[in-house]
Amino acid sequence: MADQALAALNDRFGLAGKLAFVAGPSGLPHARIASGDYGAEVALQGAHVLAYGRRGEPPVLWTSRLAVFAPGKAVRGGVPVCWPWFGPHPSDPGKPAHGFARVSMWSVAASADGGDAVALTLGLRDDGATRALWPHPFALELSVRVGARLELALTATNTGDAPVTLGGALHSYFGVGAVTEARIMGLEGARYLDQLTGEFHAQQGPVTVAGEVDRIYEDAGPACTIVAPALGRAVRVAKSGSATTVVWNPWVEKARSLADLGDEEYHEMLCVETANAGADTVTLAPGARHTLGATIEVVPLS
Ligand code: BG6
Repeated sequence: MADQALAALNDRFGLAGKLAFVAGPSGLPHARIASGDYGAEVALQGAHVLAYGRRGEPPVLWTSRLAVFAPGKAVRGGVPVCWPWFGPHPSDPGKPAHGFARVSMWSVAASADGGDAVALTLGLRDDGATRALWPHPFALELSVRVGARLELALTATNTGDAPVTLGGALHSYFGVGAVTEARIMGLEGARYLDQLTGEFHAQQGPVTVAGEVDRIYEDAGPACTIVAPALGRAVRVAKSGSATTVVWNPWVEKARSLADLGDEEYHEMLCVETANAGADTVTLAPGARHTLGATIEVVPLS
């Protein structure tokens, strides 16, 4: 991005010492946010939160060392915004997995210093490129609030005159240090679709990882906690507007097949995603809106 365009963003939305727009590795703009001891980085491409954490502590979100920063490429890590569908397109496998929002260029709508948190709002509207993939008018907004908690709210408005059906996810990648020691609390008893076999099961006890995991948990409760003993911490994810939680770890073989994920990196990360996935879709009447919300915070190990 030209220096002038970055300067214009900083003039209009920058907050002294708290929010600055800088050129990311590919030249595309990133917002750097500092809020007391907490910080975050958000790429305007994809409205992608790349990093969040507290100074002096291990990052809360995980991003691959092989992540690719390039126009039109999704970043492996952070919080990709999957929208308006989750996973493969429901009827056309030729369309991009997880929709187009994560690779679209968003604009900055607002910024604010709220004292205990710094807020940034990004927006995306339909255009020729989005309508070629999904023929519906829409307004999409991601609000990011950075403080002792990371609060994300993805609000979709149907600006057309026909109902639309949406899926999506705030596809958060968490650092866990050693995935085989990690566990997810809060999904006990939930029915899940094992995407690797197509079978449904009920979760027995906490979720643990000892192989590839790709599951859509149905009727997942309002919060779950990712316990990471190797990092001496736990992370709580509270959510709204989402009936499904997706848990993903690629494990050895899948990691080898992903060019933007190192062969051993699967061991450090675990995706716990606030989703509208599988049968959990949302149908919006004309003018209606839906918010998918996730609040992420470090909590003591219990
Ligand atoms: C998860 C899906 O949400 O995302 C997995 O459940 C998928 O099936 C994973 O492999 C990563 O997707 P992508 O498109 O970012 O490689």
